[in-house]
Amino acid sequence: MYVTSISSKDILRKLDGDFKQIECHFERFPDGEGYVRFDEKVKNIEEILIVQSLYYPQDEHILQLFFMIDALKDLNIKINLIIPYMAYARQDKRFKDWESVSGISLAKMIDRLDLESKYTVDIHDMKVTKAMRGENLSAMPLIADYLTNLNLRDPVIISPDKGSVERARMVADQMDAEFDHLEKTRISGDTVEIRPKEINTKGRDVAIVDDIISTGGTMAKACEVLKRGGTLKVLSGATHLLMISNAEERLIKAGIDGIFGTDSIPFKYSDITIAKIIEEIF
Ligand code: R5P
Repeated sequence: MYVTSISSKDILRKLDGDFKQIECHFERFPDGEGYVRFDEKVKNIEEILIVQSLYYPQDEHILQLFFMIDALKDLNIKINLIIPYMAYARQDKRFKDWESVSGISLAKMIDRLDLESKYTVDIHDMKVTKAMRGENLSAMPLIADYLTNLNLRDPVIISPDKGSVERARMVADQMDAEFDHLEKTRISGDTVEIRPKEINTKGRDVAIVDDIISTGGTMAKACEVLKRGGTLKVLSGATHLLMISNAEERLIKAGIDGIFGTDSIPFKYSDITIAKIIEEIF
């Protein structure tokens, strides 16, 4: 399969197997407008896979994607698309009739492009993948492999909230480990207690697994609670390491013993590669 990318060239470099890369250049004109150009050998191919992650600067990466697709369509090339990190996916609900729902709008625009196949990875809300009539893939099996290799002590996989329970369950099942999620209980008007719903993690290692670490607030809180409860090591990871502003510092301050994630967004803890998922599909 021929593959191309602008924002995820790192993932392409890690691909093993029968993949041939078609270079794609992105440049800016002096007035700030962008421009996309493929290597000339693209004109001889019939089908291609675009791997384009839509992390910051999201709007630039989105526009690159649309320019790439349009240029390839004009050459009558069949296009498959994997979006490792889908921008705007957390904007999936309309609170006022007169506002946009960015995640769904973007998904609908992608759907209208008539592509051969469309994939997201660990999407925050399936409504977005459904709006683009795509399929969602998961990095959880890769996260389970990664954690297995760490030889954690009697590990418990924890979801920081109900939203990621299925993800934590998937990781735990593969590792033959227990899983749980954190639950908030209101003790009084101004006191809320957060603790694992079922399992006592005292004297055990814990990996907290989520889809996104953004500001790090959710993970930092979870880590503090678990450490107070006598948990040994607390590792924190997610498919998408947005790691906004001082997220890393926040996690370290909370006592985190390790951070892990995928290269859907390139970051210093992106040790797990989405390339493995691509190899299985194409
Ligand atoms: C939210 O529902 C997501 O699953 C993550 O829990 C959230 O994006 C994490 O955000 P932050 O790192 O800012 O707490």
